[in-house]
Amino acid sequence: RPRVLSGIQPTADSFHFGNYLGALRQWVALQEEHEPFFFIADLHAITVEQDPKLLRERCLRAAAQLLAMGIDPERSAIFIQSQVPAHAQLGWVLQCLTGFGEARRMTQFKDKSAKGGEGAASVGLFTYPVLQAADILLYRPQYVPVGEDQRQHLELTRDLAARFNHRFKKTFRLPEPYILKSTAKILDLQLPTAKMSKSASSPGGIIEMLDDPKVSAKKIRSAVTDSGSEVRFDEGEKPGISNLLTIYSALTGREIEDLEKEYDGRGYGDFKKDLAEVVVEFVTPFRDRTLELLDDKAQLDAVLRDGAARANAVAERTLADVYDRVGFVRIG
Ligand code: TYM
Repeated sequence: RPRVLSGIQPTADSFHFGNYLGALRQWVALQEEHEPFFFIADLHAITVEQDPKLLRERCLRAAAQLLAMGIDPERSAIFIQSQVPAHAQLGWVLQCLTGFGEARRMTQFKDKSAKGGEGAASVGLFTYPVLQAADILLYRPQYVPVGEDQRQHLELTRDLAARFNHRFKKTFRLPEPYILKSTAKILDLQLPTAKMSKSASSPGGIIEMLDDPKVSAKKIRSAVTDSGSEVRFDEGEKPGISNLLTIYSALTGREIEDLEKEYDGRGYGDFKKDLAEVVVEFVTPFRDRTLELLDDKAQLDAVLRDGAARANAVAERTLADVYDRVGFVRIG
């Protein structure tokens, strides 16, 4: 079975709808036909300041959420990045193959360092995409299911893989981004020109999977919509309504056209009220299940221990090849 790999940062108490619809739902679906490796990117999280106690808590919450949404630990290795040392080790080797200018072109660094100025940003934030390339290449996956905002990092990953293969010997597989067009960029409910984001969205703009379902329903009902009253998918003219239609369609499996027909002549109010109900029905069991899983720390530990063992087995083998090819001494 071809491999699949992806990661998510433990930088909030809850995943949000952008994470879920943009990426995590595809993780669940891809389990069926692939050999998946899914991890919680704690090394990436510390590129910006984190409170140690919160970070530890959020890693476990992330693991519980992955299980609650249907990642099956029998099929998928679920692990925490820092428990597989090869990520940082390959990260270093790849940093030495990355041009300074090449790293500088990564738009996420520009965005994330914009606030405090480049001087205040950590070097880790600068090299973040190179570590991400290491995360991926260690497992030689075919697909990497992510949202649109990760596309540039996937391109860098492919460039670095090709460069290493060319300079030394064919070692890495060139991974393909797996980005579902319809949900690749879920927008902020209050500012439907920007993506829904844990760091940038206002509380009203972001639906958190573990939030009180009543609060999420209210956020849907008060989402910014566009002038006019027609429920129609048109990303240019009606980004707010189009975003809500995308969410509605993704959660129910109904075609957008079908939804447009159903709400023809009924206005935004009815539409948002119904979507709020769809959202409540979706998040309520998810939240209950996550809280239940969080009560069983021993089970979470067992899943993460097993996941790390499976990941280490694969990652160590790739790293050994890399060290060999680069010319590091192997003592017999
Ligand atoms: P992160 O933690 O920011 O987000 C996790 C996943 O959610 C997707 N996503 C979205 N998709 C659609 N619409 C949105 N508004 C939205 N917001 C977030 C992201 O694209 C991502 O797929 N650098 C990665 C973590 C990472 C990684 C990796 C991913 C580290 N190493 C290796 C893949 C492979 C990140 O910060 O994702």
